[in-house]
Order: sequence, then structure tokens, then C-alpha cells
Amino acid sequence: MGEYAIEIESLVKKFDNLTAVNGVNLKIKKGEIFGLLGPNGAGKSTTLNMILGLLEPTSGRIFVNGTDMHKNPLAARNEIGIVTQETVVEPELTAEQNLMIFGRLYHIPPQELKKSIDFALQLADLTSFRNAYAGTFSGGMKRRLEVSKSLMHAPQILLLDEPTTGLDVQNRTQIWNLLRDINKKQNVTILMTTQYLEEADQLCDRIGIIDHGKLIALGTPAELKQKIGVSSVIEISADKADLPRVAEVFKKVGLEPKILTNKVVAPGGSAATKKIEMLVKELSAHKIDIHNISLHEPTIDDVFLKLTGSEVRDATGEYVSNRGSFGMGRGR
Ligand SMILES: Nc1ncnc2c1ncn2[C@@H]1O[C@H](COP(=O)(O)OP(=O)(O)OP(=O)(O)O)[C@@H](O)[C@H]1O
Ligand SMILES: [Mg+2]
Repeated sequence: MGEYAIEIESLVKKFDNLTAVNGVNLKIKKGEIFGLLGPNGAGKSTTLNMILGLLEPTSGRIFVNGTDMHKNPLAARNEIGIVTQETVVEPELTAEQNLMIFGRLYHIPPQELKKSIDFALQLADLTSFRNAYAGTFSGGMKRRLEVSKSLMHAPQILLLDEPTTGLDVQNRTQIWNLLRDINKKQNVTILMTTQYLEEADQLCDRIGIIDHGKLIALGTPAELKQKIGVSSVIEISADKADLPRVAEVFKKVGLEPKILTNKVVAPGGSAATKKIEMLVKELSAHKIDIHNISLHEPTIDDVFLKLTGSEVRDATGEYVSNRGSFGMGRGR
């Protein structure tokens, strides 16, 4: 058996005259948690759907555990569990009934079904909710049920499309723990998409950044941060109306500012601490109120900003729509 769970070669998907995926090459190693990171409309779901065989590529090839997706779609498909972007639990059914339906769908032999359901409930930490209606579950519980459901046929690879979008921090952390567990204990390779930079940073062994259908960066979180060649980042948040004036002050002290939704950022350079002193002095001389000032090591946010010139999301988690028709594409 080879080293890779998924191999993608020169993958292209065109919808009429829109190229949603534009020549992606990517190899997902067995046993890793890989995060495909990108803003709305970047081509994440389209890529996943081609790996699942739900969409036919315009060109390019996909191998799942060495099996050519095009030549042998069923064999390839059998290796994969999927958690889609939309919630698909049946609210009128209990947790157990939801799993039962899915188990039958995947032809789990009747004599093994109960064991398989027990395993899924335990994995999702929902054993005590076995007979509760899924409609009464929190968003996080529904997601956990979906994740464990997708593992009932014991796939070696799990694909998740934005598993934590819309979840609060606590539920998000639970899903992360669940995914780590699945990865370590069940030895399942995970390929997930996300719009959350912090999630990619904390959860994923490697990250691929996709923008306008192209893979623009690939590496471990540490590698990506190092790659942008910035040792530190100075960040000042202030009222939106004040941001242009804050940026002027950045320029005055010799920094190269970028104005984001609610803050101004700039690479700190070697004299970052000194620059901060100068900034504070100038800001107070100009009577500009600020909310917060910080000096930090580059984050995946900074990597994304450097590579694409835009934010994935602003601080409130809302998508920043400064990318023309992209991002407006399909409302959510
Ligand atoms: N079936 C389709 N027909 C036409 N265009 C499509 C179709 N599916 C996706 N697209 C377009 O392809 C582009 C990529 O979409 P995709 O759903 O892959 O993005 P995404 O990265 O998953 O975004 P999101 O974060 O919103 O889920 C978008 O511009 C989208 O509007
Ligand atoms: Mg999507």
C-alpha cells in the first residue's frame, strides 16, 4: 500500500465559463489531518465532491488509496466517510434511528448493526441520548452524530466539509476533540475544509490554502508561518472610522500598514518594540483612540492575508466581502 490516502493530479472543474477548481495538485498522506482552507467560493466543496465521485472532474485524476476514482468509483468511494456542509440528521427520528437508517444504507449486516450503532453513539458521546429525538439536539450534538454516523462503515478516510461552521466555541472544541480521537485511535485519515484559520492552525497537521480554485500554499502551520518571511506582526484595533488615521500613523513610523475590517496590521520587523513605542506616542499626539494594540508571531491569518491580500473572516466570524463576485456567490 502506498503512502497516500488521496492523490489529486491537475484537477480542474468548470461550470460553464466559471473555473471553480483550476489545476489542483495535492497529496494527502495516510494518517494525517489535512485542512483545506479558503474563503467562500474558493472551490473547497467542489474539490471534495469530486473526490467523493459526486461531481465528474472536467480534467485531472484522483486516486483514493491508490484506486483510480474514474476507473473504479465504487471501490474508491467505499474507503471514504463523508460529513457534508449541510446538516443531514433527521429531526423526527431518535439518535439511534438516525444511525440505523444510515447503517442499512451502507449495507452493514443486521447482526453487526447494533454493535456499530453502539460504537457510533459512544464515539459521539451521545450514548445517554440514544432515544432522544435528533430535532432536540444542539448544533454541536447534531454534528457529532453526523461525524460518528459517517464512520459506521469503518472507512479509512473521512472527508468533512466545514464541520464546525456556525458552531460556538465550545461545540467547535468538542468536534476538534472528536476528530483528533478518530484520527489517533481509529487511525482514520482526515481531509476537512474550513474557513476558520485558527481551526486549521490548531487541528491540522498540514494545511492547503485554496483561493479562486488554485492551491496557493501548502505545508504545516509552522512552515506556512515561516514562509511569509515575517517575524512579528503589529496589530492595532480601533473604531472603523479611525482606521485610515491609524494607518497614516503606521506609515509615519516607517511601517507598511494594511487596513482590515476592524484593525490595522503591519509586519513588525526587527525593531518592533521600538516601533510600538513610536506608534503609541504618535497616536496619543493625534488624539486617536484605539481599542487594543498587540505584537505577535505570525498566525495563519497573517499567512492568508499576505498570500491573498484579504481576510477570510473578520474578528466576529463574518465573511469579509471585499472580493467582488467571489464570496457573494452562494449565500448561506
Ligand atoms: N453546481 C454548480 N454550478 C455552477 N457553479 C457552481 C456549482 N457549484 C459550485 N459552483 C461555483 O463554483 C465556485 C466554487 O464553489 P465551492 O462550493 O466549491 O466553494 P467553497 O470553497 O466550498 O465555498 P463555501 O465556503 O461557500 O462552501 C463558486 O463560485 C460557486 O458558485
Ligand atoms: Mg463549500
